[in-house]
Amino acid sequence: MYICLCKGITDTQIRETVLNGSATSLGDVQNQLGVGSQCGGCVESADQVIQLALAQLNKPHVMEPMAAKLFYPLLST
Ligand code: FES
Repeated sequence: MYICLCKGITDTQIRETVLNGSATSLGDVQNQLGVGSQCGGCVESADQVIQLALAQLNKPHVMEPMAAKLFYPLLST
């Protein structure tokens, strides 16, 4: 989904910039992708995507139920 229409930047691009470790703030994303550099109407939405990606980075990895069944079949019965 497009977040920044002026620059044609999607939520996926913003999320990947954060998840690959090259951005940790709105300023970083603005510098790297140009988000919010024209009308500024996307800044709030871009920041929400960034915050969600940062939360995803900081969240401990929880095994999905299907993966748990594959790796621990005896425990899931
Ligand atoms: S929509 Fe992002 S700068 Fe205009």
